[in-house]
Amino acid sequence: MPQLKIGVLISGGGTNLQSIIDNINNGFIDAKIDVVISNKKSAYGLERAKSNGIDAIYVNPNNYKGSEEYNQIIISELQDRNIDLIVLAGYLKILSMDFVRTFENKIINIHPSLIPSFCGRGYYGIKVHEEVIKYGVKVTGATVHFVDDGADTGPIILQDIVFVDNNDTPLSLQLKVLNIEHKILPLAIKLFCENKLVLEDRRVIIKN
Ligand code: GRF
Repeated sequence: MPQLKIGVLISGGGTNLQSIIDNINNGFIDAKIDVVISNKKSAYGLERAKSNGIDAIYVNPNNYKGSEEYNQIIISELQDRNIDLIVLAGYLKILSMDFVRTFENKIINIHPSLIPSFCGRGYYGIKVHEEVIKYGVKVTGATVHFVDDGADTGPIILQDIVFVDNNDTPLSLQLKVLNIEHKILPLAIKLFCENKLVLEDRRVIIKN
């Protein structure tokens, strides 16, 4: 099977991006990250990409008239590069309808909670873990899912859990959850690249 080309969209530190890079380098994933795109100039993930010889592009949303035009620039960049899989790894902008339709079932996202809890609009970053602690749930986790035109509503590929301990803070929980994100995101990418994810309505069946 020819090696798939991945485009990674980020807005921040890029520890998930790093986990993908590491798992490509150690042979777990047979694919290539062709480009990393950020909507934030200061995103440290751009540096991670550059230091690994990956094209790193900052697209300033302020240079475009609106969200549609901004999204179109990114769509074109990904199309020009014949990207097979788009990974949202801490990308904090909502994709346009056009974006989602252009790359239907080819976009995956990592979310730091057990969807359908603590997700959707407004649930990002440390806020997710603050709400988890406030609510008092005893387990939380991370979810990798396909992206559809809703906020965190697409078919779920993988989930894993962590326990919420009495002394957990939003920050300690965030670190525990990041730890499992760095395992399930590379695994989901590997399964995608090996063509092992089959969609049946909104269920994702993982083939052996
Ligand atoms: C992660 O918690 C991810 O689930 C969420 O944003 C965070 C990004 O972290 N979507 P990083 O930039 O990969 O370190």
